Amino acid sequence: MCGIIGYTGTNQAAPILLKGLERLEYRGYDSSGIAVINEKIDLIKSAGKIKVLEQKTDGGKKLSGVIGIGHTRWATHGVPSDVNSHPHLSADGNFAIVHNGIIENFAELRAELSSKGYKFKSDTDSEVIAQLIQYYYDGDMISALCTVMSKIVGSYAVGIISTYSPDSVYAIRKDNPLVIGLGANENFIASDFAAALEYTHNFVQLGDGEIAKLTSRSALFFDAHGNRMEKTPYRVDWDISQAEKGGYPHFMLKEIYEQPRALTDTVRPRVKNSEIILDKIAFDARNVNLIDKIDIIGCGSAYHAGIVGKSFIEKYCRIRVNCVLASEYIYSDPITDNRTLTLIISQSGETADTLAALRLAKKMGAHTIAIVNVVESPIAREAHDVLYTHAGPEIAVATTKGYTTQVAALYLIGLKIAKIKHTVSDARYSEMLDELINLPQKVEQILNDTDSVKSYAAKYSSQHCVFFIGRGTDYAASLEGALKLKEISYIHAEAYAAGELKHGTISLVEKGTVTLALITQSALYNKMLSNVKAVQSRNGTVLAIASQANIAIEDNSDGMLTIPDCDDDLTPILTAVVLQLFAYYVAAERGCDIDKPRNLAKSVTVE
Ligand code: F6R
Repeated sequence: MCGIIGYTGTNQAAPILLKGLERLEYRGYDSSGIAVINEKIDLIKSAGKIKVLEQKTDGGKKLSGVIGIGHTRWATHGVPSDVNSHPHLSADGNFAIVHNGIIENFAELRAELSSKGYKFKSDTDSEVIAQLIQYYYDGDMISALCTVMSKIVGSYAVGIISTYSPDSVYAIRKDNPLVIGLGANENFIASDFAAALEYTHNFVQLGDGEIAKLTSRSALFFDAHGNRMEKTPYRVDWDISQAEKGGYPHFMLKEIYEQPRALTDTVRPRVKNSEIILDKIAFDARNVNLIDKIDIIGCGSAYHAGIVGKSFIEKYCRIRVNCVLASEYIYSDPITDNRTLTLIISQSGETADTLAALRLAKKMGAHTIAIVNVVESPIAREAHDVLYTHAGPEIAVATTKGYTTQVAALYLIGLKIAKIKHTVSDARYSEMLDELINLPQKVEQILNDTDSVKSYAAKYSSQHCVFFIGRGTDYAASLEGALKLKEISYIHAEAYAAGELKHGTISLVEKGTVTLALITQSALYNKMLSNVKAVQSRNGTVLAIASQANIAIEDNSDGMLTIPDCDDDLTPILTAVVLQLFAYYVAAERGCDIDKPRNLAKSVTVE
């Protein structure tokens, strides 16, 4: 995730900015840059590690001045490169900005400004902010920033400097974190505390739609209409490592809590006036009607996301879908050709098996679309098309937001194809799209009330073996729930299609065996009830994970966790979040090394 640091004080800004950027390195980035005011704005930026920026700036000595902004970039729009790195300058060079987030309407704004003669240098969505500030600036920075905020749609935390206001750093934000650090004769803006904690422990949180104007001796705050407002500072006593995790004990929990934002970034920028626009992927009646089969390929959780996608796409698009493990695909002599659409799923974009499968599918003539998180990763580069999930960097080895955003991306693709093929009614399409857009709020609801999941996790943390069962899309979600539990808690966990239990596995159920039963598919409630009873009649314990429509299962189970009301076809994202929390708290209870489970690597670049 991108990082922001800004400084105004009495010391040279550049070395402080570089130090702040180092503190933000843990967030993951592919390029960095700093800009300092010295009558004009001097700027140095570079793709690659901060070390390169340090060399280019001679440890900051090449940029003289006491006011500046810096940025670590995690590419979303435009490849990682010097020119796409932040800060970005306005065309006249009088404004520089750094930006975290996504400007959803950047293409429209860019076209509008280009028609007025503005020249753009980068492929980013962010550059438009610098140009807009120049366009609306008429001598009053606060008023220009209010206007800019009213024009841009999306999420943003932005740091700004201007030659017209050479003693100040400005900041605006919406749906993207930004804190103001208050020091003695120096003030900071930062995307998280870690960047400024070395200099101050006193912070102010900038709220949505608010503006900050900082000089070395003052911090002024304004609302979205330019009215002055007071903000009360608070003290943060975290050390740097706590700050990096945003106060969470582990990166995994932090990333679980980032899911409302991540899902919003996957879905929202792609829905315009009820139309799904999948970036540059040209889906139209001609090429969609040529598809006679879809292959979905991935490993681990990415494969599990594919299984959720398979049932959704088959149901809505009426196209046969095969979901295949990448490591099996490459040695399976696959049946594929130019009428097979191949969706390659990978959070890291560099998993060796998945990359090999992509290459084979391409060689055999299939059209490939990569669903990837890491921009410009090998899989993203090699596929014919790419749909980035925009989950942001995942640091914990066990994927959480990586997985749920992959599922959301598959829903978008499914709905898009179904609409073109007319295999979904207009009414159902709109209903599903609304549901998809509202999912982040429902995830938020789950995250706001975790007492029950914590207490069940504590209760069952000493189990040796846990089964997960479900039918249909609940079975797909069970696979991911079991993987999460086994990889971070080391409890043996297996998922079964609930109807399969009686064909063998039920022999393992005995007194005290815990089974998590996912029950969100109303049409299958009675079938699941029979499966639950079958477990209980062998003295097994059942913890149900139920949707609101199926809470009657409580009377027939030993415990229940619920998800918010949701269309049955979209429940896997919500159940995934509950099961991630369950796995996390079980592992925490058992004292496991949650972020770095034994024997596992974040990115598996060997076959
Ligand atoms: C599980 C997990 C792995 C990955 C798998 C694929 O929590 O993280 O199962 O899902 O290694 O990785 P990517 O998506 O990077 O290809």
